Amino acid sequence: MRKTPFVVMNGQVMDQSEALVPINDRSFLFGDSLYEVIATRKGQPFFTDDHLARLRATAEGVHMSLPWDDSWFKQQIRMGLDQLPLDEVYVRMIVSRGSGDYNIDIDSTATEPLAVFIFKPLPVIAERFETEGYILSVSETRRNHPRSLNPAFKTGNYLNNILCLYEAKAKGADDALILDLDGHVTEATTSNLFMVKNNVVWTAPLEVGILDGITRRYMLDQARALGLETRVEPFDLEAIRQADEVFVSSTIKGANPVCRIDDQEYPTGYGPITRQLDDAYWQYVDQHLDQY
Ligand SMILES: Cc1ncc(COP(=O)(O)O)c(C=O)c1O
Repeated sequence: MRKTPFVVMNGQVMDQSEALVPINDRSFLFGDSLYEVIATRKGQPFFTDDHLARLRATAEGVHMSLPWDDSWFKQQIRMGLDQLPLDEVYVRMIVSRGSGDYNIDIDSTATEPLAVFIFKPLPVIAERFETEGYILSVSETRRNHPRSLNPAFKTGNYLNNILCLYEAKAKGADDALILDLDGHVTEATTSNLFMVKNNVVWTAPLEVGILDGITRRYMLDQARALGLETRVEPFDLEAIRQADEVFVSSTIKGANPVCRIDDQEYPTGYGPITRQLDDAYWQYVDQHLDQY
């Protein structure tokens, strides 16, 4: 098996150390890039079409035209997966706008976009995050306003999230709970956020400024399939303080419980609804693994 992480770039599989990006690449200079993270189960990716659709939506949002069709992306992913025969693999695909002059003007880009695919075993989530849960802290730094850099765009520019995470960790938390400029709960730094109150499953709407998380979408579907009421409406810190359960969601985690937000404690480990949703979600994933 190949040493990991390794990379697929320009149609070739190579070691990470061989995958060189030019110094005038716009991803390096300006964070002018897009990315997606895909995971596998039983060696097969899942929800690839959703990730590619979101990649295209981000590209459109930042006025980048992608010269590849979906089958090309899938071929590159498959090329890497064939070198890493594990059940659970992490695939990060990054598209830089390209390289050019040291000038932010998009028109100064001199090359086609560059696509890079990084492969490694899926990181194992620390047991504590499942048996106890995440400790979140509300960051002073607010989520980018959708009319500034829309958090729905999954770009390589993560400084907003990096600053929030830095603050949370400085306070001894695992992750940040990020508010919008009006004090509505948005999300965590690399996951969406849900609360459960009286069996109603709540999550913030896209308008407050969040990533349109693919796990979030399927969690909402599962909640509805289980007959639970869902609300995709803004809510504030006061509301989440009174929640029965809080959880975070992402491709890598599925749903993981939150056991504390600053001084507010929640039950340790998976609450009953979070447990039910996480089980239903993974069952759905296993029934919908991609075949390519
Ligand atoms: C800011 C942010 N929110 C939410 C998510 C979860 O998204 P998904 O469920 O598509 O993995 C991510 C994942 O990277 C993220 O970076």
